[in-house]
Amino acid sequence: MVLNLGILISGNGSNMVNIAKHCKNKSINCRIQIVLSNKECEGIKKAKSNGLKSLVLKPENFASRHDYEQRLSNILKANKVQLICLAGYMLKLGKIFVQSWNKKIINIHPSLLPSFKGLNAQKQAYDKGVKFTGCTVHYVNSELDDGEILDQRVIKISKDIKYEFLVKKILLEEHKLYISTLNMLSKGK
Ligand code: GRF
Repeated sequence: MVLNLGILISGNGSNMVNIAKHCKNKSINCRIQIVLSNKECEGIKKAKSNGLKSLVLKPENFASRHDYEQRLSNILKANKVQLICLAGYMLKLGKIFVQSWNKKIINIHPSLLPSFKGLNAQKQAYDKGVKFTGCTVHYVNSELDDGEILDQRVIKISKDIKYEFLVKKILLEEHKLYISTLNMLSKGK
């Protein structure tokens, strides 16, 4: 059985494009049903050019965050989404939304959680001087970057590594990690 995905983005969308590529070449048994963003962004343009169904749903056009999330949830259900993949989605999801999709929302984060939650995780790790960092895919709960960890990839921070290079390296590992995690979940593991 193919696993139906809904992808939530807010930015560049490189993870989303990579997932789309792997769905298309059937290296993972998943299908992107819809890409949703809370704002106009590069990722939405890329979704369109990849022939994916996409929609921008702006919270500011709703009376409350709850109303926005209710609509989001209805759209995902109407599109038969089974697993929500956050891929650079920059809004925190509310308790009610998260509870109604319990264990059906995953997120990718550019650090080895539980270290360096929140924004600019790569910079936090670099500035702290840790010798290893990486990326994490985890289930989403109502706390920020906090749910049960599904898998991680580790990167060594060598002595003279430039920050910009580290950021690129982490993103490349993220692409691999999201695919291997989806592969595992789509096999019911
Ligand atoms: C990634 O670094 C991801 O870990 C974080 O947001 C970034 C999204 O990158 N949550 P992209 O939009 O997939 O290129």
